[in-house]
Amino acid sequence: MKITVINGTEVKGCTYHIKEAFLDVVREKGEITEFYLPKDLPHFCTGCKTCFFKSEALCPHAKYVMPIWESMLESDLLVFSAPVYVMRTTGQMKAFLDHLAVHWMVHRPDERMFHKKAAILTNAIGPLNGGAQRDIATSLQWLGVSDIRKWGTGLFEGVIWSEISKKRQNKITEKVQQFAKHYERDYTPRKGLKVRLLFALCKKMHLDTSKKEDTLSADNQHWVDKGWIKPKMRA
Ligand SMILES: Cc1cc2nc3c(=O)[nH]c(=O)nc-3n(C[C@H](O)[C@H](O)[C@H](O)COP(=O)(O)O)c2cc1C
Repeated sequence: MKITVINGTEVKGCTYHIKEAFLDVVREKGEITEFYLPKDLPHFCTGCKTCFFKSEALCPHAKYVMPIWESMLESDLLVFSAPVYVMRTTGQMKAFLDHLAVHWMVHRPDERMFHKKAAILTNAIGPLNGGAQRDIATSLQWLGVSDIRKWGTGLFEGVIWSEISKKRQNKITEKVQQFAKHYERDYTPRKGLKVRLLFALCKKMHLDTSKKEDTLSADNQHWVDKGWIKPKMRA
């Protein structure tokens, strides 16, 4: 099993320890590639839209984004590990997800995403992890991932791992490893109902817009090249 881990912080703190505990369960089964943000993508999306209109290869940050995206495409399991910052995911994680907008189903999805598993790991000092998890899950769903599982914890005792009691550390480790056991079994998820529905809606949108174009947009050309819409369908 190939695993890509996207770390939404470079700090070797609580998020890191939790992610390592998770990986300890699947490490033997997997070939793991990790990326740390912002080190491995130290830029915000500039909003130039070159990816949408021309090609993602021409993105000014392609040399950072492409290796991460390629690794994701080659993986069976995607792990997103990030702390909660002001109730949402970290800015660096959001900046990374922004760079993947071109692969959303409204643009140019890659069918390899339809059969991936994704695990989202978050932690917060308090109990609220939902907003941060949704930030990541929303992107994954529009990228076409059906099997998205979320795990989050409140640290409660503090935000410095070494200052958290051994008892609490062990409890958190035990819980995240229980969650990780799900991935000990190698399986390929099927395309879920939500992803099928989004794909069908996007297909209709691409078909309708392609009919009005003399020269196909990069997005619609992609859908034709994939065989998802047929050029002859154009009026
Ligand atoms: C800038 C910043 C914002 C944070 N915002 C929240 C928050 O809104 N809610 C919360 O419960 N914890 C918050 N935390 C705590 C983090 O979610 C996390 O638990 C803590 O940073 C420990 O993880 P780390 O060692 O990986 O950084 C915040 C931490 C930082 C540094």
